[in-house]
Amino acid sequence: MLILGIETSCDETAAAIVEDGRRVIAEIVASQAAVHAQFGGVVPEVASRQHIQLLIPVIEEVMRQAAVDWSDLSAIAVTAGPGLAGSLLVGVNVAKALALAQKLPLIPVNHLAGHIYAGWLYDEVPTPEPRFPLLCLIVSGAHSDLVLMSGHWQFQRIGRTRDDAAGEAFDKVARLLGLGYPGGPAIQRAAAAGSPDAIPFPRSSVPGRYDVSFSGLKTAMRRLIARYPAGEAPVADLAASFQAAVAEVLTTNALRAAAEHDVAELLVCGGVAANLELRRQLGARSPVPVRWPPVRWCTDNGAMIAAAGYFASRAGVRADFSLDADPALTLGTERPEERDALGTH
Ligand code: KG4
Ligand code: ZN
Repeated sequence: MLILGIETSCDETAAAIVEDGRRVIAEIVASQAAVHAQFGGVVPEVASRQHIQLLIPVIEEVMRQAAVDWSDLSAIAVTAGPGLAGSLLVGVNVAKALALAQKLPLIPVNHLAGHIYAGWLYDEVPTPEPRFPLLCLIVSGAHSDLVLMSGHWQFQRIGRTRDDAAGEAFDKVARLLGLGYPGGPAIQRAAAAGSPDAIPFPRSSVPGRYDVSFSGLKTAMRRLIARYPAGEAPVADLAASFQAAVAEVLTTNALRAAAEHDVAELLVCGGVAANLELRRQLGARSPVPVRWPPVRWCTDNGAMIAAAGYFASRAGVRADFSLDADPALTLGTERPEERDALGTH
């Protein structure tokens, strides 16, 4: 079963063709990062205009690379939310138009389910499937969620951030340090020349829950930087110590949830899952196997949406042409019965 996945929730215009929710046949990610870098962050209006220009050529090119015709496809999966309203709208409307024209089923996918199902993808050699109960740590530019999965398409959110998402914290602190955008990779590069123990940043946790908070860390960083004359802050040490603190907070919280829920595996996904210090700490401390999608499937991409679309369609998820983008979509609301119960659509 071949599914075309379309992702336009933020600043990547992406499409992919995936077989049976796992094997990537072809994929393209047109990143707008260079366009937004000049503004120091994603500018929503610019992002939607870029999606409008790029999406159709990206889809045509992925179909060409996969050497498939519309009649070879079984469905079109598209990110319906959460994300930037104008960006989501482009993907949803293009997917609707294609589904209508090509008479293909339309599958709405929650972006976070997409990040999770990146854990099922492979391209050449099949990998073992993640095992349930599975704890998913989703760390992206907008989320730091812990989601417990008891089976396919069964999502229970047990933890989140109280303020900034992990990626957002990286991006804001990178700006404070003058390191540019996107902040995560920039901090990781700067941190390589610094000491993680140089500055004892606070490691805050929310007692009795699996929530995290990064605003204290960000404030501590702002105060520290203000103490140095312009251009004299020890950027490498600050970056390394900040990165170590974020990684430790995420690791401690995830491992406590993993132990208390007796999970079989831990899956780490989303853009911040690319972070090497987080990988090092979790790898060293976790008693259960930790699974990391390859870096290109941690950041936003179309393959993860096609994969999630496959498992969603197996769970009976399907949209009609009234499908609308939902910038605040929460995970688990795509199942028809839950959607009705919540009255969100
Ligand atoms: O998942 P993603 O591509 O987009 C969202 O859905 O948000 O995540 C983007 C976030 C950005 O905040 C970026 O700074 C962060 O992931 N990121 C990293 C790294 N690579 C990307 N954070 C830390 N270390 C990295 N190596
Ligand atoms: Zn994402």
